[in-house]
Amino acid sequence: MQLSLLDNADSMPDTENRVKELRRLLEYHNRCYYQFDAPEISDAEYDQLFRELAALEERHPELVTAESPTQRVGGAPAGRFQAVVHRLPMLSLENATNEEEIRVKLDVRIKKELGLAESSSVSYMCEPKMDGLAVELIYEKGTLTVASTRGDGVTGEDVTQNIRTLRGLPLRLTGEGVPALLEVRGEVYLSLEAFQKINRDREENGDPPFANPRNAAAGSLRQLDSRVTARRPLSFYCYAPGLVEGASFSSQHEFLEMAAGWGLPVNPLTRLVDGIAGAVAYYHEMQEVRESLTYEIDGTVVKVDSFQLQRELGEKSRSPLWAIACKFPPRQAETQLEDIILSVGRTGVITPVAQLRPVEISGVTVSRATLHNWDELAAKDIRIGDTVVVERAGDVIPAVVRVVVERRNGTERTVLPPETCPECASAVVRIADEVALRCMGISCPPQLRESIKHFASRGAMDIDGLGDKIVEQLLSLGLVHTVADLYRLTKDDFMRFDRMGDKLASNLLTALEASKTCDLGRYVYALGIRHVGERTAKVLAQAFGSLENLEKATVEELVSIRDIGATVAQSVFTFFNNPDNRAVIGRLSEYGVHPAAVAKTVGGRLSGQNFVFTGTLTLFNRDSARKLVEEQGGNVVGSVSKKTDYVVAGDEAGSKLSKARELGIAVLSEEDFLQLLETP
Ligand code: IVH
Repeated sequence: MQLSLLDNADSMPDTENRVKELRRLLEYHNRCYYQFDAPEISDAEYDQLFRELAALEERHPELVTAESPTQRVGGAPAGRFQAVVHRLPMLSLENATNEEEIRVKLDVRIKKELGLAESSSVSYMCEPKMDGLAVELIYEKGTLTVASTRGDGVTGEDVTQNIRTLRGLPLRLTGEGVPALLEVRGEVYLSLEAFQKINRDREENGDPPFANPRNAAAGSLRQLDSRVTARRPLSFYCYAPGLVEGASFSSQHEFLEMAAGWGLPVNPLTRLVDGIAGAVAYYHEMQEVRESLTYEIDGTVVKVDSFQLQRELGEKSRSPLWAIACKFPPRQAETQLEDIILSVGRTGVITPVAQLRPVEISGVTVSRATLHNWDELAAKDIRIGDTVVVERAGDVIPAVVRVVVERRNGTERTVLPPETCPECASAVVRIADEVALRCMGISCPPQLRESIKHFASRGAMDIDGLGDKIVEQLLSLGLVHTVADLYRLTKDDFMRFDRMGDKLASNLLTALEASKTCDLGRYVYALGIRHVGERTAKVLAQAFGSLENLEKATVEELVSIRDIGATVAQSVFTFFNNPDNRAVIGRLSEYGVHPAAVAKTVGGRLSGQNFVFTGTLTLFNRDSARKLVEEQGGNVVGSVSKKTDYVVAGDEAGSKLSKARELGIAVLSEEDFLQLLETP
């Protein structure tokens, strides 16, 4: 059988054109969404276009190109990062920390250097100083070919695979006059929202949180498994050219304009000013604006706008003479740590929290700070009564940076990790490989409170009106012991609450009723399974189609799902095999909560058939194979059992092949498999 038979379905030139059109559309909508914050189509419509492209590429692997939007999902782990030598060194900047330094270290110095009168006015480009990490992107003939970190300025690391996952970054430049070679430098950063979400997830999972968005961005970009990077919504703003062939710019502002014209993200807050007074005003203005930005900036950068003047000024050892970083003062303050209280989260993680003597840090009064976990508390030797340095580092919750040891007077008290839960007195355990301590009590009040809040939240069952205050009252009146009890509540129950009116009570009941038919992904997320966020829940729902299937899934079946790793698989399996959880799910079902099964392709020619792939596949890879099977209604499972219908064996197939033979299951070669797909 020839592979080209697969082309019968769609004539090649048409397919090729449609593939190109889909790529253009997807890139266009990526830009609308990520760059202009103005999406023109819904997520579902975007997904539909994406799936159409992915399906065509599956059938025509020869049409897949490195810059296709489908390549943004990341790939399997690389051994380690390759070194990339920057053709032009990536310089750093000298710092100024106040108005005076900005004038002296830049304006006065360059005028002397250029022989300009002190009264003359130089044009400066002012830019926010993004607090992320510097990368260099290389576009050859408009296509992104290499991306590297700054490293030591001379040699960086090849992070091309990871950079491709940034949805807001063009893999191909568009517009007029795209140069033959464009090296462009810029900053990869994480929004504050994304940073906070990553840290919340990490804390819940017992991983140490990132100290600030910069570390989180660096940690996310330097992932050997680019599928992890793909799940972190990193962004990029470009700020400088490297080596360029086939285009020229006379100034920084012209460069930024052209870069934006080619589709590269440029920070809209950049501004051309005349004279250093304008740059100083910009610095003060940005200090105000900083508080309302959705990402962290740690200062501004002022650059001589003219490239001719930049060349004349040149650079000294590691930084150019024509630019300066104007740093903002750190958002830190000293205060006294009055107490260390213990907070119990939804999954039972017990976190130490610092109660502080209230102190103002850049306009915000701070009275609590996270101490993250017990290891950190011990490492920093933080004690009750200590004077501590507190920092607002991009997080809503400030952090204790360090202790001012000189201020100790001997009355400070060390706090040891608890042996029992402060809320329910159950035993506390420390799970291997985790920094977190967990309360194992199944009816621990704060865990119950947080899990009900989570269950009712927007991305989960979306029970409108079931806010924090209602949850508190439900618990204090003893009306709810598990999430299932929510569906037993009557109007009379609600009417017992403070400030509860007839209308509000009816609305709550309607919202609860409506949630009974939510989709399976939301329901799985709502259950609060460890390591299962909204996205993973959707993946599970899609893969298993129904709650019954998911409940029965083995660890092997779970790990065979694309994007599900061993930790998630184990956690899902453990959750559904816990009798308490099963009881809650059973009760939910008794009360009429029936999540809508996700329509798996039914009626396809492989409907209900189970496939196992084994050995080295040469005609297609496992992901493609899975999609081909699923498109036609079949399932791909990880292990051979009596329920397996076909085993597709590539080269050097081992134990799974023997088992298939033992059980008398049909064994197909790759060619046979493709033939099967074609059979009407
Ligand atoms: S220009 C030779 N512009 O700050 C010029 N840098 O302290 C090189 N940064 O390594 C840098 N925002 O990571 C420039 N608008 C901006 C920037 C910026 C952030 C970072 C960059 C650089 C560091 C220098």
